[in-house]
Amino acid sequence: MKKSIVLVGFMGSGKSTVGRRTAKLLNCPFIDSDNLIEERCGSINTIFETQGEKQFRIIESDIIKEVLIQKKMVVFSIGGGGFCSSRNVKICLDNAVIFYLNCTFENCYDRIRRNENRPLAKKGKKWLMKLYNSRLPYYNNAAFTIDSDKSVNETAKEIILFYNRIKKS
Ligand code: S3P
Repeated sequence: MKKSIVLVGFMGSGKSTVGRRTAKLLNCPFIDSDNLIEERCGSINTIFETQGEKQFRIIESDIIKEVLIQKKMVVFSIGGGGFCSSRNVKICLDNAVIFYLNCTFENCYDRIRRNENRPLAKKGKKWLMKLYNSRLPYYNNAAFTIDSDKSVNETAKEIILFYNRIKKS
């Protein structure tokens, strides 16, 4: 069986757009953890407001595990905090090839600052920059780091190039 591809990275790094394109090029299903959470549990904003971030992380972690232990190859993009616990890092590394979409803080911030659907994006630039820096050690557990400050197509093609190399080795 081919291993799934997991895309990780900060909010606004392009995981969903690049993931969708990568899946299309590979002709395999695309799954977005946030979409799956919203389908099952309602909006992420509401989950944060009514149940708190801790409960959101539990739901997120369960979904990551569920998607990755099923035996189908998928391209899976997970929320910016989904790769930031040792438990989730292990599940991902054991079951998939992980690509970190590396995007500068300024570019991520530009893309998320006006977005109403991300509860953490409302916390202000300074706070977000600290969060960004605190997550880098987790993201660096990925097998590959891909610079995502280029076109969606180029980024997706680079992911596929690296993925095909490991399949052969
Ligand atoms: C979060 C990122 C979001 C979403 C939630 C929390 C985070 O996903 O899971 O708002 O902690 O970084 P995206 O990275 O897709 O925006």
